[in-house]
Order: sequence, then structure tokens, then C-alpha cells
Amino acid sequence: MPTPTQQKALFLQAKQGEFAVASRPVPKPGPGEILVRNEASGLNPVDWKIQTYGIFVEKYPAVLGIDAAGIVEAVGQDVTRFKTGDKVLYEGLRTDGNDRATFQQYTLVPADLAAKLPDSLTFEQGAALPLALTTAAVGLYNQDGGPLFTPPWLEGGRGKYAGPIVVIGGSSVVGTLAIQLARLSGFSPIITTASLKNTTLLQGFGATHVLDRNLPAAALREEVVKIAGGPVSTVYDAISLPETQNAAFDLLAPGGKLILVLASAVDEEKKKNANGRSIVGTLGLIQLPQNVEFGRALYSKLTSLLEAGDLKPLRVEVVPGGLGGIATGLEKLKNDQVSAAKLVVRPQETA
Ligand SMILES: NC(=O)c1ccc[n+]([C@@H]2O[C@H](COP(=O)([O-])OP(=O)(O)OC[C@H]3O[C@@H](n4cnc5c(N)ncnc54)[C@H](OP(=O)(O)O)[C@@H]3O)[C@@H](O)[C@H]2O)c1
Repeated sequence: MPTPTQQKALFLQAKQGEFAVASRPVPKPGPGEILVRNEASGLNPVDWKIQTYGIFVEKYPAVLGIDAAGIVEAVGQDVTRFKTGDKVLYEGLRTDGNDRATFQQYTLVPADLAAKLPDSLTFEQGAALPLALTTAAVGLYNQDGGPLFTPPWLEGGRGKYAGPIVVIGGSSVVGTLAIQLARLSGFSPIITTASLKNTTLLQGFGATHVLDRNLPAAALREEVVKIAGGPVSTVYDAISLPETQNAAFDLLAPGGKLILVLASAVDEEKKKNANGRSIVGTLGLIQLPQNVEFGRALYSKLTSLLEAGDLKPLRVEVVPGGLGGIATGLEKLKNDQVSAAKLVVRPQETA
């Protein structure tokens, strides 16, 4: 079948406006690019934050969406890694031109930042991974000012690190990936916080200790010190609300690093008495210039990491209605109604 010239896309029509499905042209891949027919697209908290707070996007109407998996529809010049019909997963990007975002049926992707989807994973499972994987990986391995551990997919990185790590919010999509990477890097114990109903699931990903996310900060510290034998050098806060950040900072040993996924909200008083403890924010966008090289290496190994079960797929929940279902899904994310699962839609099912 020839590639269609028009596709359906979900537009955020104006700053803090409403979402609506409309048509837009299907772009053509340039040199080094592939055009992917999106079979599954993942929802992220940032999507409702953009709509609610009017942040990050200046040009409207805008197509949002960062996570997807699908089938290569066309390849641009010089692309040798993929051919038409290959199944892939990839991380998209919001841009003014809208061609690289994933809340649409077709997306342009740099070929070296996509990976073949193993047969053992569904498109939905593939679409659950990219942004969370980059966010966890950049924080641990590639963020200036962060711990800059050697990634487990590079020589000598696998199992290199012994010693404890804490992941706050282990059942979040980002937290789940941080736990899995920590396991590949060799950290132990891997202590995490979540609702205790998610304990078995998180142990399956590599958590050695799951603590109740509702523990007060002092009780959390006491538990962590008991398990780890003292305060720890690395805490990854996958939630990064003011209360989790402050509790997380208190878990650090002198010289330790707190990795955040949102802007720092650690109390000034604590920072004055930091004793060498530092805070670093992470940005999980793989197409940013500072992450591209890192991303190429990761994406060249991602298929084999998934095939070997080194990285395990997450639980997914399919929101019905194709692109038209996204607003409902984002409402669930906004209202904290999603636990230990990634919401995805199927763009090709859009009415
Ligand atoms: N910096 C970046 O580049 C970047 C990239 C991606 C995401 N983010 C941000 O990272 C955060 C997480 O995103 P996500 O997609 O992973 O979220 P998510 O999966 O939708 O988050 C839901 C999960 O968070 C857990 N949770 C909520 N409050 C918690 C708390 N106080 N303590 C422990 N766990 C808590 C819930 O755990 P239970 O159900 O077990 O209670 C639930 O499983 C968001 O704020 C997002 O905007 C930043």
C-alpha cells in the first residue's frame, strides 16, 4: 500500500487549550531518518502539564507525545539499519514543525535513535519504555554533575558497582527503569518506595527492599540506614515532589548525589548544610545534543538488552479510542489514578 499523504494527529490547539483530532500531512524522511507508522504511543505526565500550565511549548497548534513503537513505513537516504516493515521503538520529540512528536499516526525519527522491537514485546510494551528509559539512564550515566556511572551496555559497566542505591517511587514508569538499570549496574541493596501492593512486581524488576511510600521522612531514613548500613551515596527520586526530594536528600551520605526528574525543591536550610551532598536534575530527551551520542550507544544495544530480558517490559494499560482517547488518559495521570503501569493508545484506531 502506498504511504498516505494525510494522517490523523492530536493537536493541542492553543496554550492551555483543548485537544482535538485533525488531519496533517505525512512527512517524508530525509537523510538518516525513518518514517514510522505508530502502532502504539505512550502517555506521559508532561503532556497534561503542558496543557494545564502552558509550559514548554510556544507554537500552537502543537502535536505532543514522546513515546512510540510502530512499523517502518519508509527510510531516508543513507539509512542502513532499518528497512520498510521493521518493527521499532523510539523516543520522539516535540518540535515546532510537529513531525517528530508521537500523538499522530506517522512520525519522523533519526534512524540511529531507534531500535528494533523484539518479537517478544508488543508494540504497547515497546511504547512504554523510551522516555522513562532515557530519563533513568541519563540521570545515572550521562548527566553533567551526576554520578556518571559507566552504563551497563558499555565495556566494564555491567555489574561494576556494588553498594546500595535508593529509588524513590519505584513503581512509577521512570522508577521502574531506574531499578532495572541499577540492577544491571550491580547495585545492591536496591531500596525503593511504593505502595506496598506493588512489592512483588518491583522485586521482579530487581528491587531488594520495597518500603511504604507513606512512611514519614524520619522513619524512611531509619529503615534505609538499617538496610544499607548507613546513609547512601546515590538516590534517584523518580517522583521529585517537594516532600520526596527533601526526604531523599536526608538519605544521602556526605558527598552523595540526589538525582531529580523535576526542578529542585530541596529546602534552602538543608542545602546550606549539604556537607558535600549535591543535587542534579536530569532531562530524558534523547534527541537533545548532549544526549545524542549517549543515546546512539544505548539504542544500538537496546534490542539485545530486551531480548535477553536484561530490561523487562512494563505493565501497560491501553486507553481506548486511539488518539481521541489521550485526553481521558491524561486526566487519569493527572489525578494519580495510574499505579505501576504505562498508559498507551493505538493511533491507527483513531476514528
Ligand atoms: N526530567 C525528565 O526528563 C522527565 C522524564 C519523564 C518523566 N518525568 C517526570 O517524572 C515523574 C514520574 O513520571 P512517570 O511517567 O514515571 O510517572 P507515573 O508512572 O505516571 O507515576 C505514577 C506512579 O508514581 C508513584 N508515586 C506517586 N507519588 C509517589 C510518592 N510520593 N512516593 C512514591 N511513589 C509515588 C505511584 O506509586 P504507587 O502506585 O505504588 O503508589 C505510581 O505508580 C513525573 O513528574 C514526570 O513529569 C521527568
